[in-house]
Formats: sequence, C-alpha cells, structure tokens
Amino acid sequence: MAEETRDRKADHLRICLEKNAQARKATTGFEDVNLIHKALPEVDRAKIDLSTSVFGHKFAVPLIIGAMTGGTEEATKINSTIAETAEKLGLGMGVGSQRAAIEDKRLKKTFAIARKKAPNAFLIANLGGVQLVHGYGVKEVKKAMEMIDADALAIHLNALQEAMQPEGQTNFEGVLAKISEVARVLDKPVIVKETGAGIAGEEARRLEKAGVEGIDVGGCGGTSFAGVEYYRASLEEERFQANAFWDWGISTAVSLVEVTETVQIPVIASGGLRTGKDVAKALALNARLASISQPVLEAAVKGAKETEKRISCLIEELRNVMFLVGATKVDDLTKRPIVVTGKTSKWLKTRGFQVEGFAERGAS
Ligand SMILES: Cc1cc2nc3c(=O)[nH]c(=O)nc-3n(C[C@H](O)[C@H](O)[C@H](O)COP(=O)(O)O)c2cc1C
Repeated sequence: MAEETRDRKADHLRICLEKNAQARKATTGFEDVNLIHKALPEVDRAKIDLSTSVFGHKFAVPLIIGAMTGGTEEATKINSTIAETAEKLGLGMGVGSQRAAIEDKRLKKTFAIARKKAPNAFLIANLGGVQLVHGYGVKEVKKAMEMIDADALAIHLNALQEAMQPEGQTNFEGVLAKISEVARVLDKPVIVKETGAGIAGEEARRLEKAGVEGIDVGGCGGTSFAGVEYYRASLEEERFQANAFWDWGISTAVSLVEVTETVQIPVIASGGLRTGKDVAKALALNARLASISQPVLEAAVKGAKETEKRISCLIEELRNVMFLVGATKVDDLTKRPIVVTGKTSKWLKTRGFQVEGFAERGAS
C-alpha cells in the first residue's frame, strides 16, 4: 500500500515535469478580468508594500508555493529547494499529500526537510479528504502536522482525479462530516483545497459552516489531474475517460468570485496562476493569498537559484501591476475597479453573482 502511494506520487512528478498536463481548451478566466490602468498612479513604486497578514501569520508577499510532493528521494530535494526559497522570500509553502509517510514512517524525512529548511515560513500539512472517509482521523492529522511542525492543515479534494484512476477511491460519502470533525478538534487552521476543478459558492458555504478556516479554490485552467492521469493510464478506455475530462471544472476566476462573495473566511486563489498579473487579478478579486504549483516545480528541479529567480520575477510583476493601478498596499487592490468580460462575466451572472459592482469600485 505504502509503495503504491509512493509510486503514484513519483508518477505525478515525472508526468508534470516531462509531459504537458496543463488545461487544453479550458482557461483560468483571468483573461476576462481587467484592472484599469492609472495614468496618474500617484504612487512611488519603491514604497509599495507587498506584505500581508493571514491566518495570524505575516507573509512578506501574498504568495504560497502549492502542495506538490514528498515521499521519494527526488521529492526530498524538491521540498528542500522550495522550502529554502519560501524562507528567503517570506512565502508560504504546502507539502504534498503526507499519506505515504503516514503509511511508512521512513518517508517522514522527505516532508520534514521543509521545516528544517524553512524554520519561519508558513508551512501547510496535506492530507486527502477521501482518506478521512477511508479511516483517517484526528490521529493521522496530528501526525501529519507534527511531521513538519505545520502552521495549518490543507485537506485536499480530488474527486476528479480519483474518478480517473483505475485504483481511485471514489466513495466520498460523509466527507464533509469528517472535515468538520477535524476542523473542530485541530487548534490550527484547516484549509480545504481543490486540486484543479474549482469550488462553487454553495460548496464553500457548507465548508465554512463545517468550521473550515480557509478555502483554496484550486480552479480549472492550470494543471489538470485528468491530464496527469491520462499519461498514467495503461488501458485505452482509461485514456479515453481522462481525455474526456481533461478540461473539467470551474475556472479559477469564476470559482474565486463565487467563493469570496459567499464566505467570510480567507480565500486562496490557485489553479493556473502563472504571472504576477494573474496574482494581482486574484488579489483584486478578494483572494487573500495566491498559490502556484507547476511553474515552481519546473524551476525547483533546476535548483534554488532558478527557483528564486522565477518567483522574484513574478513578484516584480505583481509590484508593477500595483504601481500601474496606484496600489501601495496589497489591500488597495481590492478597492480598484475591475471590468469582468466574456464567458467569466456570463457564467457569474447566470449563477447570480453581480460583476458590475467590481467596475464601480473606487468611483469617487
Ligand atoms: C506534481 C504535482 C503534485 C501535486 N500533488 C498534490 C498533493 O499531493 N496534494 C494537493 O493538495 N495538491 C497537489 N497538487 C495540486 C496543486 O497543489 C495545485 O492545486 C494544482 O497543481 C493547481 O495549481 P497549478 O495550476 O499552479 O499547478 C499537485 C500538483 C502537482 C503539479
């Protein structure tokens, strides 16, 4: 069992590095989100402050490197590099699902390296919601938290991926009750995250009611887990299924608006964020933090320098957007007007979310 879990995670890493498992026709929706350029920004770029406080932690930049890996030797190196960068730049970091190390204690160090390299960074432990349905409980959660001395727990929801895997666990009955049990017992924030198919407003409401303290929308438009499973499939019919569901899900921009307009708890934007402009748009749509996975993985296998360069470039892009819309603080972005167009606007209106309000912000 432990070996199976570890091998599957190694497959994911290899596929994400060697193949293209990104969304094909689906997009994040950020192409429909437009911030308004300010010809008179009245801001000194040098004075822009990117820091923000969320979950009681001060982040130097509102950025998290998303949950990806652990369990193998290669994963140890990747986690080490990512953690080093997160520590240096004052970012948050999620580790990949810790199930493999719960099943086999010897793998603990492949995750624990993250805390070793990032003593002060906001670290997020990770377990699957479906594992909670299949026997995991507070005991396993606490083990995962202790393993990396975590600041929060992410419970990932991956129904799409499980449905695509021949060995997938497709019984999610009772998952919300289990999440609620964990959220009520744990003394650290529980964040529920999707993994590329998004979260709708009504689901977010149920999660908030269940005691969850943060939601990461994990929307569609970036890494596709149907795409990843397509490359893992050994039978033609499995490939056929995965191909059909490659672009399944709610776009990141739609999911973000639905969730932020529905709940009060902090919302994290993820799923296909690739540039500082995407991050700025997500923050303007009321995300408190943005999270990026695949591009960081590609840099991390090249080393710490490459990873720092890639993320620093993205941070400077974010700073430039803030400059160009006259925002000196992260929070200012939520007061700048945005025009939402195209299919993102149509979808949101059909679902009863008013996008006109975004265009009217800061009208005075
Ligand atoms: C190689 C790889 C492994 C992943 N493993 C996990 C995981 O174990 N747990 C989890 O919650 N998300 C996992 N994810 C999903 C990411 O955290 C994120 O939700 C998703 O990749 C979308 O972000 P992106 O488009 O920036 O890659 C993984 C992503 C990648 C690329």
